Amino acid sequence: MKVVMIGAGYVGLVSGTCFAEFGAQVTCVDVDQAKIDALHAGRIPIYEPGLDDMVARNVREGRLHFSTNLADSVPEADLVFIAVGTPTRRGDGHADLQYVYAAAKDVAQHLRDYTVIVDKSTVPVGTARHVARIIREENPQADFDVASNPEFLREGAAIADFTHPDRIVIGVESGRAEQRLRALYRPLSLIEAPILATNLESAELIKYASNAFLAVKISFINEMSGLCEKVGADVHAVAKGMGMDGRIGSKFLHAGPGYGGSCFPKDTLALTRIAQEHGTSVRIVEAAVEANGAQKARMVRKIMDALGGDVAGKRIGILGLTFKPETDDMRDAPALAILPPLLEKGAMIQAHDPQGMEEAKHLLPEGVAYYDDAYAALDGVDALVLLTEWNEYRNLDLPRIAAAMQGKVFVDLRNVYEAERLAEAGFAYTCVGR
Ligand code: NAD
Ligand code: UGA
Repeated sequence: MKVVMIGAGYVGLVSGTCFAEFGAQVTCVDVDQAKIDALHAGRIPIYEPGLDDMVARNVREGRLHFSTNLADSVPEADLVFIAVGTPTRRGDGHADLQYVYAAAKDVAQHLRDYTVIVDKSTVPVGTARHVARIIREENPQADFDVASNPEFLREGAAIADFTHPDRIVIGVESGRAEQRLRALYRPLSLIEAPILATNLESAELIKYASNAFLAVKISFINEMSGLCEKVGADVHAVAKGMGMDGRIGSKFLHAGPGYGGSCFPKDTLALTRIAQEHGTSVRIVEAAVEANGAQKARMVRKIMDALGGDVAGKRIGILGLTFKPETDDMRDAPALAILPPLLEKGAMIQAHDPQGMEEAKHLLPEGVAYYDDAYAALDGVDALVLLTEWNEYRNLDLPRIAAAMQGKVFVDLRNVYEAERLAEAGFAYTCVGR
C-alpha cells in the first residue's frame, strides 16, 4: 500500500509514521522546506512523546520518506491524505480551507491511476465534495474517489491514540474507496478497533460533533466549579459522583482554566458557523464557547484576588504555558488569555514550561521573563500559578519553593494539590471549584 500524507504537522507526521509502522510505504509531503530538511536530518519538528523513535525506525527500515514535492510520490499512490491546517478564518470564525483547497489543486495534476483522496483535516460538511470538484476541474481525466477519515488523536498521547483508537470513521461514496481504507487500517483489526463507514457528510460532522461534545463537557464542569466555590461543594467530588453514572462517564470532567489547544476553540467556533450557514443553531455549543471565555477571565480574577485584588508591582511565577502537558503546542493555550491582562495590570511574570517556551516567546507580550528551571522561575515571586499540569510540577519540593518565594500564595488552576498539604507547608492555597 502506497500512501502520501500532505502536511507533516501534529496529525500528518503522526498518522504518516503510524501507517508506515503498519507496513505501508509512506511519503509525508510538506510545503515547509525547513520542516522537511529537519526530518531528513533526523530532527522531529514537534514535541510528541515516542514519535522520534518511531520516525527513526520507519525511516531506517525504508517505509517512511519526506519530500516537498508531490510529483515524486502521488502518481504511484493508492491513497493521498490531506492533513493540512484548518485554522479559524480571520474575521468570521469559519474554518479557513485555503490550505485544503491548495493541496487538492496540487494533487490533481499528479494523479495517474485510480487514487483515493482522503480528507484527514477537520473540515466543514461539504468539503470532501468540494475537493472532488477542484480535482475534476484541474484534471478532468483523473480516476479518483474522495473520502473523509477524520482524526481523533490527542496531542501528547498521539501515538497511543492512533494505534489504539476508540473508532475509525470513514466517510465514503464508493465500495472501492471503502475497501482501500479498510485495507490500510487492517492491522488495527487485530485489536478489534471498530470501523464506522458512513457517508461523507456524516463523517465530516462526526468530527466536529465529537470535539464540540467534549468541549461542552469541560465547560459544563467549569461552570459547576464556579458554583461549587459559591456553595461550598468540591468539584472533584461532584465530577466523581457524576462520572460514576455510566451514562455520563468520568472523562473530560476535570475543572481547570478553560480548554485550549489547536482544536476545541477553533472547532467549536467553526461548528457554530456551519450551523448558522445552514439556517440553524447549536446553542449548547455557543454556550460552551462563551463559558470557556468566561472561565479564562475568571482565572485572571482568581489570581488577582489571591494577591489581594491588585497585581501592580507583584511578581508572579507561572508553571506551565502550553495548553496541556506533553506537547510544545501553544495554539490557543489558556496562558495566552490569562497572562496578558496580568501584565497590563502591572504584574511581573516569571515563567517556566518544559517544552513550550520557544513558541510562547513569539505569542506572549514582551515583559515575561523565561527560566529554564521551574524553581528558578519561582525565585522572589509573590505568588505561584500552576497553569499546566506537567508531571514535573505534580510533586514540587514545597519547603524549597517556600524558601525561594517572597510571598506564600499558591494558585493551582489544575487542582493538582491537596489544600491540607499546602496549608501545612504554610501556603495560602487557591484552586478551582474546591
Ligand atoms: P499543523 O499546523 O501542525 O500542520 C499542518 C502542516 O500542513 C504544516 O506543516 C504546513 O506547512 C502543511 N501544509 C499547509 N499547506 C500545505 C500544502 N498545500 N501542501 C503540503 N503541506 C501543507 O496542523 P495539525 O495540528 O497537524 O492539524 C491538521 C488538521 O488536523 C487540522 O484540520 C486539525 O484540526 C486536525 N486535527 C488536529 C489534531 C491535533 O491534535 N493537532 C487532532 C485531530 C485533528
Ligand atoms: C482534542 C481531542 O481530545 C481529540 O480527540 C481531537 O482529535 C483533538 O482535540 C483535535 O481535534 O485536534 P487535544 O486538543 O490534543 O485533543 O487535547 P485534549 O486532551 O482533548 O485537551 C484539550 C483541552 O481541554 C486542554 O486545554 C485540556 O487542558 C482541556 N481539558 C481536557 C480540560 O480542561 N478538562 C478535561 O477534563 C479535559
